[in-house]
Amino acid sequence: MPRPTLSVIGLGYLGATHAICMADLGYDVIGLDVDAGKVEALANGTVPFFEPGLDELLAKVLPTGRLTFTTSYDDIAEAADVHFLCVGTPQRKGENAADISYVDAAVESLATRLRRPCTVVGKSTVPVGTAERVAEQFAHNEVELVWNPEFLREGWAIEDTLHPDRLVFGVTSERGEQTMRAVFAPIIDTGVPVVVTDLATAQLVKVAANAFLATKISFINAMAEVCEVVHADVKKLSEALSYDERIGGRFLHAGLGFGGGCLPKDIRAFMARAGELGVDQALTFLTEVDAINQRRRARMVDLTRELLDDSLSGRRIGVLGAAFKPHSDDIRDSPALDVASRLHRAGAHVTVYDPAALANARRDYPALAYAESAVDAAAGADAVLHLTEWPEFVQMDPEVLGAVVNRRNVVDGRNALDATRWRAAGWHYRALGRP
Ligand SMILES: NC(=O)c1ccc[n+]([C@@H]2O[C@H](COP(=O)([O-])OP(=O)(O)OC[C@H]3O[C@@H](n4cnc5c(N)ncnc54)[C@H](O)[C@@H]3O)[C@@H](O)[C@H]2O)c1
Repeated sequence: MPRPTLSVIGLGYLGATHAICMADLGYDVIGLDVDAGKVEALANGTVPFFEPGLDELLAKVLPTGRLTFTTSYDDIAEAADVHFLCVGTPQRKGENAADISYVDAAVESLATRLRRPCTVVGKSTVPVGTAERVAEQFAHNEVELVWNPEFLREGWAIEDTLHPDRLVFGVTSERGEQTMRAVFAPIIDTGVPVVVTDLATAQLVKVAANAFLATKISFINAMAEVCEVVHADVKKLSEALSYDERIGGRFLHAGLGFGGGCLPKDIRAFMARAGELGVDQALTFLTEVDAINQRRRARMVDLTRELLDDSLSGRRIGVLGAAFKPHSDDIRDSPALDVASRLHRAGAHVTVYDPAALANARRDYPALAYAESAVDAAAGADAVLHLTEWPEFVQMDPEVLGAVVNRRNVVDGRNALDATRWRAAGWHYRALGRP
């Protein structure tokens, strides 16, 4: 089979990474987005978000001529053999359900222009049943629909795209499977396991994975709540649990909990979809998973207030971290910025620093103050809050920060600072779930 030409529709965190990586594997790839600014930036060699190594990989593949960008659906409909759907599926405003309108719009734009046999591959995270509906849209064309959920983690997106734990192909025919095996051959040949299944299962795998991960995080955070009242240490508790191979230590770190553009909205959309399907009882536990996660943010604010003699009004607080997690500039549903905003609303003067997410934070949270370094954010602070676990915060010298603060109070929202070291440097160290 000659090498197919690929299109990637939607050039956000998922799509841009996928397009660049597939071009690096040797495919001709056309990336499409309705955002002309994004298309122009990528075509000029700039990745419009922070993802380690992606700028360099784009610089490597652009000169080959294999990767081009467009805003025109006519271009991709004419040129591509395989179309990857990578548009966003955010939470609907005021509801738990996912907003599928971007998927519907992209599908309509493509379906009305297709004049040749091709394969459409859904990668966006969607409510189960969406793929079947999308398939109907293409029924009149010679179009094969496949669902290929994506599990990449921001911060490790290249590694996860080129060396995934597994590939899942939801197909309706032998031809769909063969196309996917051919397109992903360079990855499959490295030994990556492939699970071939139906459309419904493929869509469910993604949300099931995120529901499990969210549950594991909220489980240990629930243990942290119990630890706090009996003066136990959740960090030791999770360490002891982690040696049990049946449990494992990953995603078992108590702290401020999860956020970002995936886990929170995916578990809510999963619950909403289960409700529509009449199996809401199966997922009611996710309501509690979500609630535990939200309580951690409130507890972080309370802990800070306790540390500051029960008053936040007029206090200066330095916040370390704005991104929802380290190695990313993504601030969607960021626990760090949620806590910073709550403190600001309670009357504190909050100054935020983040190594990568300052521009996004400034844009979406203009009421907060920002600094260009951790030391500047902490200058004159009555308390410093560690809210995103960037290596530069974890490795920070408590003496250096101690020299600029008003009071040596630190709240470690990620249970990642060396408590002994900070206490030895005269800091009053507090953390979630620990004495
Ligand atoms: N970000 C991740 O780590 C990640 C991981 C796995 C799965 N996903 C899933 O992948 C999907 C995309 O997520 P993301 O984080 O890349 O979102 P994003 O918001 O960063 O990117 C979505 C892109 O789609 C574009 N778009 C919207 N409507 C369009 C249309 N009609 N035609 C073409 N482009 C259009 C937007 O302009 C935007 O650039 C979501 O379903 C998400 O749940 C994301």
